Amino acid sequence: MTTAPISMSQLQKSYRGKRGKKVEALRDLSLTIVPGEVFGFLGPNGAGKSTTIKILMGLIRPSAGQAHIFGISSDDPAARRNVGFLPENPAFYDFLSAREYLSFVGKSFAMSSAAIRTESERVLKLLDLTVAASRPIRGYSKGMVQRLGIAQTLLHDPDLYILDEPMSGLDPIGRALVKDIILDLKRAGKTVFFSTHVTADAERVCDRIGVIIDGVFQQERVVSELLREGIDGYFCRVRGLAAETLHSFEGVTCGDGICELFVPRDGYDSFAAELLKSGGSFDLVEPRRRDVEEYFLDLVRSSGGASCA
Ligand SMILES: Nc1ncnc2c1ncn2[C@@H]1O[C@H](COP(=O)(O)OP(=O)(O)OP(=O)(O)O)[C@@H](O)[C@H]1O
Ligand SMILES: [Mg+2]
Repeated sequence: MTTAPISMSQLQKSYRGKRGKKVEALRDLSLTIVPGEVFGFLGPNGAGKSTTIKILMGLIRPSAGQAHIFGISSDDPAARRNVGFLPENPAFYDFLSAREYLSFVGKSFAMSSAAIRTESERVLKLLDLTVAASRPIRGYSKGMVQRLGIAQTLLHDPDLYILDEPMSGLDPIGRALVKDIILDLKRAGKTVFFSTHVTADAERVCDRIGVIIDGVFQQERVVSELLREGIDGYFCRVRGLAAETLHSFEGVTCGDGICELFVPRDGYDSFAAELLKSGGSFDLVEPRRRDVEEYFLDLVRSSGGASCA
């Protein structure tokens, strides 16, 4: 059996907050990421995503539990050799140029000078930074710094990518570029674990998503299965809806003899039969499919709303 790129077992983390008050940022997180998958770690602000990622990267220690990268404990620096890491708010030595910074990163990963030269140019081009590559980073825009952050994760061609909100601060072109890069990494057999609040991004690139709220891991789902569950019900615009049929639905809006309502999937057949029998008719029937956003919002709502630290 191949070793899991990431495995976390009963991870807990509490911080000392204001006036020594304990903040339970992570409660009992167990999760395994399999080779070659793109995993989206979703959660509202303050949910514990960055805390998890910092533990994985050995930047902070868990209060309890274990995390392993390719079978090596995350507090061992050797665990990070085969990882490209993008922190939440990347900040670089800003007196360096992007090219100089990439050279520094390449040396830290013991790459040869020739490999550093060719790989730096490759990733600079990929992230559209070639033109700015000799200018000091201090003159870069936020999006350019983020793109350099992505570039440095790719330099040493690791097998695992741990990215804390990789699309953050990017314009639509930058976001599309990063999504394409993630999909290319997947095609190359790499493993990607990234955090995000943007459900549409997760839906487009992830094989699997996991949702964390208030430090509690809620559920993990295979995205294709979630989408295949398909139609929740139908948004209908109808004429001639009988009053007794109308009463069995919530949130019906009516005007000028036309009513709009949502009919759940399992009630649709009887609704349609009743409507037609009483002489009514359909103006519009639109299937409503549950997507990752609906799924995420339902989980957040049922947990009592988004946490915000
Ligand atoms: N150094 C710290 N000291 C005290 N509390 C902290 C510290 N770092 C994080 N926290 C708290 O831990 C909780 C989780 O924070 P974390 O940064 O992991 O959330 P997140 O899911 O990454 O949120 P966001 O989406 O806003 O980036 C929050 O309540 C936060 O206030
Ligand atoms: Mg965060």
